[in-house]
Amino acid sequence: MQRKNLKRCAAVVLVAAAAIWSGCTQHKVEPMKSSEIADGAIDPAEWGKVYPEQYKLWKQTGEPTPAGKSKYKRGYDVGEGRRDKLDEYPFLALLYNGWGFGSEYKEPRGHYFMVQDQLEVDPGRIKAGGSCLTCKTPYAPALHKQMGAAYFPTPYKEVLARLPKDQQTLGVACVDCHDNRTMALKISREFTLGRALKDIGFDVKTMDRQQGRSLVCAQCHVTYVIPKDAEMHSTDVYFPWQGSQVGHITVENIIKQIKSSPANGEWKQSVTGFKLGFIRHPEYELFSNDSPHWLAGVSCADCHMPTVTENGKKVSDHRIMSPLKSDLKACAACHTESPEALRAKVYTIQDDTMTIYLKAGYATATDAKLFEMANKLEAAGTKIDKSLYAQARENYEQAFYRVVFIGAENSIGFHNPKETMRVLNDATRFAAAAEVQVRQLLAQAGRPAPEKVDLELTKYTNQRGSKKLMFNPEHEIKAPVAH
Ligand code: HEC
Ligand code: HEC
Ligand code: HEC
Ligand code: HEC
Repeated sequence: MQRKNLKRCAAVVLVAAAAIWSGCTQHKVEPMKSSEIADGAIDPAEWGKVYPEQYKLWKQTGEPTPAGKSKYKRGYDVGEGRRDKLDEYPFLALLYNGWGFGSEYKEPRGHYFMVQDQLEVDPGRIKAGGSCLTCKTPYAPALHKQMGAAYFPTPYKEVLARLPKDQQTLGVACVDCHDNRTMALKISREFTLGRALKDIGFDVKTMDRQQGRSLVCAQCHVTYVIPKDAEMHSTDVYFPWQGSQVGHITVENIIKQIKSSPANGEWKQSVTGFKLGFIRHPEYELFSNDSPHWLAGVSCADCHMPTVTENGKKVSDHRIMSPLKSDLKACAACHTESPEALRAKVYTIQDDTMTIYLKAGYATATDAKLFEMANKLEAAGTKIDKSLYAQARENYEQAFYRVVFIGAENSIGFHNPKETMRVLNDATRFAAAAEVQVRQLLAQAGRPAPEKVDLELTKYTNQRGSKKLMFNPEHEIKAPVAH
């Protein structure tokens, strides 16, 4: 371990993980003004009159990010086309075929675009209704309060139309993270994050500053479930954290929660015919599950909102983006290595993750095609061993959810390298077990599967969704060279 490369302020935390970071360069920002922001002001322009530096930086999340600085996260880089995960990882097009995520699944870009991107993406992605606005518009808590249960299933555009016209495409705003009177960090989504934290034994009212510097992000950078009624209308948005604890929200518990109710079957996978749940961007869950940085008391804001100088003032960088794209200056608050050395460490972690992620992903996609063969045989009247089929399906789902979990987490393993490897190795193991079992089923039915299964990828990567999107091979991510 490279402790000698850590600055003093980090060393303090190593001794006492709960220590406040008052000694760190990160936090030497301008003292707060007593606030003149009106109660109920949502428009960031209002807040910007009092805090022009943070407002200016916040608006910059609407600009393309510097190119050539991040190997894997190129959601909206200067001069480059936007990337779709379905082009980067073609096996996902196969696995997600059957609903919006299999049509278009763009890499994330800056906060400024979050609602705009929902309006631009394949309409299959916003079918769940108002629910989709929960971690997008700063009006979500008010909408939920006004509309009650009707908020969740009401068509997306109808809910959006209730907002003032000039605010309809406004994404995460000052009010989402700050109290207007004190400017202290605040959780605005009591109805989702507040409820979920209660489930894992944490009372939001006890939140301290360093916890807040991660929990404001956990309002959205978490996975969630949109349960459905019999007509497939959305009834809620909740985080599947029940049974977990603060610092240990595990993939196992998340999968257990998703599988605990048929209402959580949000879609039907077309290749297998299985009704399944889904996992979205679990950054908070993966990071907080005993990652080295979490254990050392580091927060999301420490790496994604470093101290910068704006207009001669030291402020937290509200242009939130990949730390690689600001040349790892956030890391320098604690690490003494050169940015190049740190970047190389990040890439080593990400390359290792990528190698095994692709392996687990293709193994799971192969299983799906084997199930397709077994289902066809059964439909044609061949008897299939039901108990073996059920076991195979269970192994397959365990592999599938783990692949979705790591693929939806946006750091390519960096937020928690060891846990990422554990989850992916388990995925590979479950996928292999399912493969053996489905192959056995097919052999028993007298129709053994070929050794190499044709994934027929172009069937899924081409003509996607209502835009008829075509595969872009230039964006495909291949296994990195072993080092
Ligand atoms: C209200 C919900 C919400 C909150 C709160 C939020 N985010 Fe985001 N974040 C998003 C969404 C949605 C996107 C993707 C936007 C898009 O692609 O249109 C995103 C994108 C990002 C990106 C990618 C930016 C890029 O340039 O590609 C980073 C990094 C990020 N968020 C970090 C954070 C951190 C750190 C926090 C807490 C300080 C935070 N977010 C708080 C919803 C949120
Ligand atoms: C995604 C959450 C998020 C959003 C949105 C956000 N902030 Fe912040 N802001 C933070 C965090 C985290 C800090 C660091 C707070 C701390 O360490 O106590 C911060 C700090 C601040 C500070 C204290 C000085 C500083 O720079 O550290 C001010 C003032 C501020 N923000 C203003 C704003 C304004 C104005 C907006 C809207 C234009 C805004 N913030 C939007 C998360 C957010
Ligand atoms: C120790 C530093 C560190 C901490 C702490 C951290 N991150 Fe990250 N994060 C990174 C790095 C490095 C990447 C990889 C960026 C890349 O590959 O370009 C990343 C990637 C991301 C991305 C994808 C960025 C993109 O451009 O698409 C998001 C979103 C994100 N982090 C959110 C969070 C959230 C939310 C938290 C807290 C729960 C968090 N991060 C904690 C360092 C950190
Ligand atoms: C607020 C302080 C802090 C920040 C900011 C921070 N780190 Fe760390 N980092 C630590 C601490 C403390 C450890 C050691 C944890 C341990 O020893 O268990 C660590 C460990 C690491 C490790 C694993 C040990 C090693 O050196 O191989 C890597 C890699 C790393 N950090 C990279 C980064 C990168 C990249 C960034 C910026 C994106 C960053 N860190 C930001 C405090 C920080």
